[in-house]
Amino acid sequence: MKPRTPISVYIVLTVVLSTLLFGMFSPDGSYLTSAFFWGLLLIATILLLIMNSIGDLIENENFSRLTEEEKQAYLEQKKIPYYQKLWNSAFKKQSQSEEKDILIDHGFDGITELDNSLPKWWTGLFWFGCVFCIVYMAAYAFTDYAHQEKEYDQETKTMLASITEFEKSAPPVNLETAKYSADNIAEGEQLFKTNCTTCHGDGGIGGIGPNLTDTHWINVKQKSLFKNVIWMLENGSPNNPAMRPFVKEGTITGRDAEKIAAYVYHINREKAPVTEAQGGAAPQGETVEWENGNE
Ligand code: HEC
Repeated sequence: MKPRTPISVYIVLTVVLSTLLFGMFSPDGSYLTSAFFWGLLLIATILLLIMNSIGDLIENENFSRLTEEEKQAYLEQKKIPYYQKLWNSAFKKQSQSEEKDILIDHGFDGITELDNSLPKWWTGLFWFGCVFCIVYMAAYAFTDYAHQEKEYDQETKTMLASITEFEKSAPPVNLETAKYSADNIAEGEQLFKTNCTTCHGDGGIGGIGPNLTDTHWINVKQKSLFKNVIWMLENGSPNNPAMRPFVKEGTITGRDAEKIAAYVYHINREKAPVTEAQGGAAPQGETVEWENGNE
């Protein structure tokens, strides 16, 4: 007769595995506040305790049937703590007579094989793996669990909602409040590529719309170049409807305009103009000496 695994080990295992399973289906941890989850753990623990009591009864019954010697051996074994026994079992070697019993009847060149039974932790892990695999596949087939595309869509939606929320509460960016920042140039370039290059060419060198890298301007509505771009983006061109009021019509936000204007400032004032010889559009309008820097 062997001493039984302590009930605490079963309880810890049950709690860990249940948490793992619940965590799989609700990764946000909301199950931790669910009465169902805690109720289930409580019921499982009570059942384990009942199972343990029945085990105790059976153990007592079996114990009384042992001979005096066997009783002694059993009590000796029971004195060794469970974890120490587990540890020892990892390095256990069979005695000669035990080896004989489990020796498999084949061999080559003096090499023989023992038919050891698999360790409990190994078989436990194996069965857990099988059950986990079935649960996972069923979850994948019949629920939204682990579907990357759906998770991606969900995250995008949450992100867009938080951006909208931010836009609502953040102070609006308009002609008065817009500020130049070199940090916006990179993002401005991306926005320029999506919204403006069709007409103003790659890098603002001009096309249907004027060359934005040179010193010539048709529309001069503000004293600084940065603000002039913001003005154009808010109001569009008074002479040519092709240049639309992007902000007013809602294609881009004031915040986007601030970034795009930083980029246009950058290509116009911090880089050499792209001339006609270099593939840029011919200058349009008149030369402008902008009064204020990037304000
Ligand atoms: C559908 C074509 C088109 C698109 C798209 C477009 N523009 Fe224009 N843009 C024009 C035209 C045409 C003009 C010239 C307007 C005029 O003659 O007054 C212009 C003028 C401008 C001017 C004033 C230039 C000057 O010399 O007066 C700025 C600044 C400008 N656009 C920036 C932008 C930015 C930034 C974007 C992207 C958000 C953009 N435009 C998108 C066609 C376009």
